[in-house]
Amino acid sequence: MRLIRQKINLFLDNKTEKSIINRLRSEGAVFAEEETLLLISEARSIEELMNMVEKRVSGFPLEYVLGFTNFCGLRIEVERGVFIPRPRTEFLVQQAKVLTRPYDIVLDLCCGSGAVGAAIATDIKKILLHSVDIDPVAVRCASRNITKIGGHVYQGDLYDVLPHSLRCQVNIIVANAPYVPTDSVKLLPREARLYEPKVALDGGKDGLDFHRMMAEKAPHWLVSGGHLLIETSEMQGTKTFEIFINSGLITQIVRDEELDATVVIGTKSG
Ligand SMILES: C[S@@+](CC[C@H](N)C(=O)[O-])C[C@H]1O[C@@H](n2cnc3c(N)ncnc32)[C@H](O)[C@@H]1O
Repeated sequence: MRLIRQKINLFLDNKTEKSIINRLRSEGAVFAEEETLLLISEARSIEELMNMVEKRVSGFPLEYVLGFTNFCGLRIEVERGVFIPRPRTEFLVQQAKVLTRPYDIVLDLCCGSGAVGAAIATDIKKILLHSVDIDPVAVRCASRNITKIGGHVYQGDLYDVLPHSLRCQVNIIVANAPYVPTDSVKLLPREARLYEPKVALDGGKDGLDFHRMMAEKAPHWLVSGGHLLIETSEMQGTKTFEIFINSGLITQIVRDEELDATVVIGTKSG
């Protein structure tokens, strides 16, 4: 906070700071003061700051304006068009970390910005991380977030792009894939609907298309005793659970009420 204050003094007087807060507040920003401090901390000049304020006022998600979000205590770079990692997904990371050991091979399917894999790799040292996404914007962001920690990023459809050498070698498959039913996409909050791509949200008619595809093929990629962890919703949890059972996985469902997070965990039997 002191650093930000010093920066404010460099190119900003109190009056301008207050006017930014008021501007953001009048456009509906609930945390206008915090947002103002964040924007100030990232701007390198008054011109850049005013540009950022204008973008935010026009409705751009704060994370896109800043160019990053905070996830599991990490600064994850995001650019417009990539899914912004949600706090609830930190529960998926927590669950994956319990099951991951150093030197494990970890596969992050539908990786988006790469946040989930990055968070696991930061805590569990020396894992071999492979992350996949179909969308070029996501692949670009993931490359920035995980290649610096030794991860590999692939662009393509789920398992299709993975090297064959990984078959039956993966210890952990983790996924926060699209799981919103097609008809419900239009009911999502405005920022998601307008700024995040449909490919990141739409999980098909019942929202579970990706869960079926990932669970069905998981046994071909997991080692015996390896785990598949997928984020789902409380409402869809039982169905995701059944999908895992039908794929022959030993299955459990875990939930965190505070984060409103549900994760289904399947284990390939030996
Ligand atoms: C809900 S977002 C989650 C991103 C990231 N896992 C996270 O939690 O921040 C789902 C991601 O799945 C990707 N995706 C959609 N269809 C895909 C496919 N067939 N193969 C790989 N990735 C896909 C989207 O591009 C998007 O980045």
